[in-house]
Amino acid sequence: MGENSLPADGGRRRLVGTRRLLVAGALGVLGTVTALSASVPAGAAAGTLGAAAAQSGRYYGAAIAAGHMSDSAYVATWDREFNAVTPENEMKWDATEPSRGSFRFTSADQIVSHAQSKGMKIRGHTLVWHNQLPSWVSGLSTSDLRSAMVNHINTVMGHYKGKIYAWDVVNEAFADGGAVGTLRSSVWTQKLGNGFIEEAFRAARAADPSAKLCYNDYNIDNATASKTLGVYNMIKDFKARGVPIDCVGLQSHLSSGSVPSNYQQNIAQFAALGVDVQITELDVGGSGSAQADAYRRVTQACTAVPRCTGITVWGVTDKYSWRSGDTPLLFDGNYTKKQAYTAVLDALNAATPNTSPSPNTSPSPNTSPSPNTSPSPTRSPVTGACSAAIETTNSWPGGFQSTVTVRAGSAAVNGWTVKWTWPGGQSISSLWNGTQSVSGSSVTVRNTDYNGSIAAGSSTTFGFTANGTAATPSVTCTSP
Ligand code: XIL
Repeated sequence: MGENSLPADGGRRRLVGTRRLLVAGALGVLGTVTALSASVPAGAAAGTLGAAAAQSGRYYGAAIAAGHMSDSAYVATWDREFNAVTPENEMKWDATEPSRGSFRFTSADQIVSHAQSKGMKIRGHTLVWHNQLPSWVSGLSTSDLRSAMVNHINTVMGHYKGKIYAWDVVNEAFADGGAVGTLRSSVWTQKLGNGFIEEAFRAARAADPSAKLCYNDYNIDNATASKTLGVYNMIKDFKARGVPIDCVGLQSHLSSGSVPSNYQQNIAQFAALGVDVQITELDVGGSGSAQADAYRRVTQACTAVPRCTGITVWGVTDKYSWRSGDTPLLFDGNYTKKQAYTAVLDALNAATPNTSPSPNTSPSPNTSPSPNTSPSPTRSPVTGACSAAIETTNSWPGGFQSTVTVRAGSAAVNGWTVKWTWPGGQSISSLWNGTQSVSGSSVTVRNTDYNGSIAAGSSTTFGFTANGTAATPSVTCTSP
């Protein structure tokens, strides 16, 4: 297990050391709020978290575990207080595709159908992550891993197509240390390179154009932290190059003393890039008024920024929390409202109506992707010092997506040019990690200034979406 990978318990380890402010003692319990109906007359305070958030056009959600749905108090609290849900584990890769190509949706479906029957928003969590990933995935070759990733995205998103408000497409890809922009080393970076994030987002847009696509991470709560800036730069770059992304998820696993003073500024600076911000896994270790103050500040920071569209707490009750020792949630083990609950409710009720609703996503026109069944890479002969292979990574009626791998031979390559001829009128609609020139059916793609150098035996990739019938023409690679 690498330095940054989390243990099977999902990573309590990283919380150690930041949770020292937990003060032993009775939890503040202020259970005096009267329940009101979900529709609230203008000017009146709402009596539940969901209804209070809805007044300013936001949602208030909870992570829910299917395994606890037999606890009637759990479901009653969920139904009464929350108008959104994130399945806590049920949509993760190990739950949905435990062995290659064999998908299971029973537990996730249970949460989704309940949520739908109550008209709740559903956040999908998560498609591409280094944790809770079955071991078969780590054993794949590069091209198998790429098609497994795209197939997983297509199948899981396809199963829930039209039902999901926002998907955490990629989770926790950035490293906790290192220079700004450093990704954590994982099977994804090791085999697909840093471009895996972009590939996942492009595949996700095609798989369900109606879902907002989020990048989700922890420790990106401080506006000036280098991890935050790495994510900020990535989103800025995606926006500049037209890579589909609609939102950033701040997990916000916090403790009473650790809400950064620039937390609101952080939300605002992400929003200024043209993405929604969602607080996706909020829990705050602590108790009493210190915990309530932290929750209040987080809530106010979100409601102060129009594009902060909602908050999800990572569980309903302290007794089932993944950090139960930190008592980090809004309801204690008896489902009694804590002081933090009242702080959140009051802050939501004090929010001014959200006047700038976020624009809808701009989906690509391709609405019916079909999983790529068997990509057959076409390899070029080695001319010069590089070779190239093209494969179809996604296709839909009238269009497709391809990845081209450019590989150096026994010597390093400095600059490369890949060429091919379309067999049947295809045309590139969007290309990344390369610069193209097109003449009739002939396509020439050269390296960008950041991916021209390839070490001996290594590779880089570029990709594109195209109109027409999926094709894998022969490609040649030359290096000056
Ligand atoms: C946690 C769950 O809460 C636990 O039940 C599970 O054992 C491990 O995962 N970041 C995430 C969440 O994105 O999926 C994690 O959830 C918590 C950290």
